[in-house]
Amino acid sequence: MAMEQGQQSVEQFKGQARLPKFAVPRRYELFLKPDLLACTFIGAVQITVDVIDPTRFLVLNSAELTMRDGSVSFKSHYFNQEIRPSEVFLVEEDQILVFKFDEVLPVGAGVLAIGFEGTLNDRMKGFYKSVYEHNGEKKNMAVTQFEPADARQCFPCWDEPACKASFKITLEVPSELVALSNMPVIDEKVDGSLKTLSFLESPLMSTYLVAVVIGLFDYVEASTTDGVKVRVYCQVGKSNQGKFALDVAVKTLDLYKKYFDEPYPLPKLDMVAIPDFAAGAMENYGLVTYRETALLYDERHSAAANKQRVATVVAHELAHQWFGNLVTMEWWTHLWLNEGFATWVSYLSADSLFPEWKIWTQFLDETTAGLRLDALAESHPIEVDINHANEIDEIFDSISYRKGASVIRMLQSYLGADCFQKSLALYIKRFAWANAKTEDLWAVLEEESGEPVQLIMSSWTKQKGYPVVSVKVNDDCLEFEQSQFLSSGLSGDGLWMVPITICFSSYDAQKKFLLKTKSEKLDKLDFPGSSDTGYNLLEQSNQRNGGQPWIKINVDQTGFYRVKYDDQLTAGLRYAIEAKQLSETDRYGILDDSFALCMACKQTTSSLVSLMAAYREELNYTVLSQIISMCYKLVDMIADAAPELLNETKQFLINLLLFSAEKLGWDLKDGESHLDAMLRGEILIALAELGHEITINEAVRRFTAFLDDRNTPLLPPDTRKAAYVAVMQTVNASNKLGYESLLRVYQETDLSQEKVRILGSLACCHDSAVVLDVLNFLLTSKVRSQDVVHGLAGISREGRETAWIWLQENWDHISKTWGSGFLITRFVSSIVSPFSSDEKAKEIEAFFASRIKPSISRTLKQSLERVRNNARWIQSIKKDKDLGEVVRELAYRKY
Ligand code: BES
Ligand code: ZN
Repeated sequence: MAMEQGQQSVEQFKGQARLPKFAVPRRYELFLKPDLLACTFIGAVQITVDVIDPTRFLVLNSAELTMRDGSVSFKSHYFNQEIRPSEVFLVEEDQILVFKFDEVLPVGAGVLAIGFEGTLNDRMKGFYKSVYEHNGEKKNMAVTQFEPADARQCFPCWDEPACKASFKITLEVPSELVALSNMPVIDEKVDGSLKTLSFLESPLMSTYLVAVVIGLFDYVEASTTDGVKVRVYCQVGKSNQGKFALDVAVKTLDLYKKYFDEPYPLPKLDMVAIPDFAAGAMENYGLVTYRETALLYDERHSAAANKQRVATVVAHELAHQWFGNLVTMEWWTHLWLNEGFATWVSYLSADSLFPEWKIWTQFLDETTAGLRLDALAESHPIEVDINHANEIDEIFDSISYRKGASVIRMLQSYLGADCFQKSLALYIKRFAWANAKTEDLWAVLEEESGEPVQLIMSSWTKQKGYPVVSVKVNDDCLEFEQSQFLSSGLSGDGLWMVPITICFSSYDAQKKFLLKTKSEKLDKLDFPGSSDTGYNLLEQSNQRNGGQPWIKINVDQTGFYRVKYDDQLTAGLRYAIEAKQLSETDRYGILDDSFALCMACKQTTSSLVSLMAAYREELNYTVLSQIISMCYKLVDMIADAAPELLNETKQFLINLLLFSAEKLGWDLKDGESHLDAMLRGEILIALAELGHEITINEAVRRFTAFLDDRNTPLLPPDTRKAAYVAVMQTVNASNKLGYESLLRVYQETDLSQEKVRILGSLACCHDSAVVLDVLNFLLTSKVRSQDVVHGLAGISREGRETAWIWLQENWDHISKTWGSGFLITRFVSSIVSPFSSDEKAKEIEAFFASRIKPSISRTLKQSLERVRNNARWIQSIKKDKDLGEVVRELAYRKY
């Protein structure tokens, strides 16, 4: 378009999702000088802009900044003379800044210079302050967190992922502090108490990846085989705790270089632990920031689960250095290309570094979480429309991360690992230093594989939801039928291209096909090893394993769908579980599908309970961990629907867990596996919560020893949370001793993981008065605002109503403190979702009617949908005539 844009008025730019592109940035020279005592900063930016169409306007993003008077100018390379805008508008609600010039800016390069000022806020976004202690004194550090759209709070910029530019950053800071940015320092000038640091100019990158950290730190350092310098920065005196993450990072960089066939492109990588941090970690190019719990590992006080968390978070953020930083999503609609991929890739790294963790089995937890959320009518497609910056936060959810990662796994397993890797490497090469959309990736995969990837995958990324595949066996065929699975029990009308895999009584006999239509039949002649003998399908498979026949669909659970078997097939699978013929992933899948079908009232709770009984000798970590989370939910539902069965239900669940609990005991065994260490912790927590007296008493005994000696071998980190949870079972309003001891440990420890363990156990007390105490404690200055969400996670059923009242009473404060970030959604989902009646849903809706804002609207709808689904499930439990008998039989059965 050669026409001048000058006639337009400012109005034109309001309410638009994206900035106009008649002028785009190429390079930023950014100067920042924070005042860590006053919590303010001053800055100056010179942006080299490419004017593509002649215009009188420059339109960019800015929020919460003040432009210094007379500091704005534009100098076109063409005219080589400086001009000033005749008008400056800030459109607050859209966070855009409009400069209007009297002259038309000519096509070509120019430099826009702006001087500005701002505050270091305490909301953990933009340019913010975090507080730490040094020699007993509280100090401020300055940190940035720009994703998704808060670079504009630090400097005026084109704050969209597609507006890549290079960044030349200069900082003026107190000379005794460490100051870090994306690139290494190339020049340092000390002038008395201040120093000026110039950083090397960065390659092309998006604004959301720019970062700065200024504070006091120690570090540990190592190098990759390529000579990339990797450092982990921690609080002074804690650098030992950075060694594990450092080792993982160095190995992971080498691994990704091979996998993506492209080296890490920057000269250094710093990873920093930040005491106040909203997300878990952030992949800023060359300067990755973390919560302390996601980076630090303490040999004596971190649990196996903490170790795994550190390794996977590091692997995730480093995956972004390729997937996200080098190749960036074109717009937030494609956020899943960042997050889904980083999540999936992190498992590649963890599996390679720690094969004994069986991390691909654990991956099923990601898939399950994705399936759970995506079974709601209020879910959204992976590729989601984003019409305003304030809608972006909410899509950092299980759909982008977990459904995203799961459909990638499904595709990889369909195309084969080699072809998949080659395609990814090609995709990275083709789009390096640029941006890509979802269809760009499909095109490369299609090119390499010759498969209709675009067609298959669009069905998974452009529509929300997923199918349940019903399978029936007939004399001469297997019948498959797909329909959309919704946890409300209704069926939606989606249609997917479903990669079906089938296994016939043995992992050696497999078959796969793509289910493209509503229903399809598989003839017996298509059956592996089939002959024309006239046997029916199940008999054929029967011959192969010499026992009862079985057929498992979705082998290894690599597909993102549910399977509903007919009665005959269900019986075969139950046999296969008990006869230990199924892999752990398939055992997991059968149970999880059955649980989901039960929640959706497509199957009775009594049939679920009797299926669970088939897992009484289960020892696998992931399967048991899934059984445990089912236990919690079942107990909650039965408490509301059939309280007379509550004790027996608990007894049955205790029976189910005792087999592994007795094998594991309380004490660490020499050379035991990482998975057993994690399992022990989870099983003991569950037994404590289910009220298993022996476990609770033993926990209290060990906790008492721990109070005397924090290093007692009686309570190593893996079992500590179990002890805390058990102690909270013994606490009530008139005996708060255990609670007070826990608060003391909370205050004394300087390890974040220990604090989180305690926070996560406090609210699981049965006395609602104590729960209220805990909730109020969460709002005190003793708990960092980043950590409150951990306290909300464990609220007991008895505390449910108290928590809801508390939320309403404190909503104004909560909304003010957490409302500008995504943490607020956790208050809503943790407190609302556990309810289970339609009346409650109405009451909650009424409360929020006048308080809704874009950042919580989707979460609230999803939580209310969950409440209504729970209500439906409860009605179905009430009608389940067999449940009483099944539960009683199992509760008193002696194994
Ligand atoms: N890019 C995200 C961080 C982020 C999240 C920024 C939400 C803005 C909003 C980062 O890569 C990430 O995904 N972090 C995860 C940890 C990861 C291991 C799943 C997180 O913060 O939970
Ligand atoms: Zn991520």
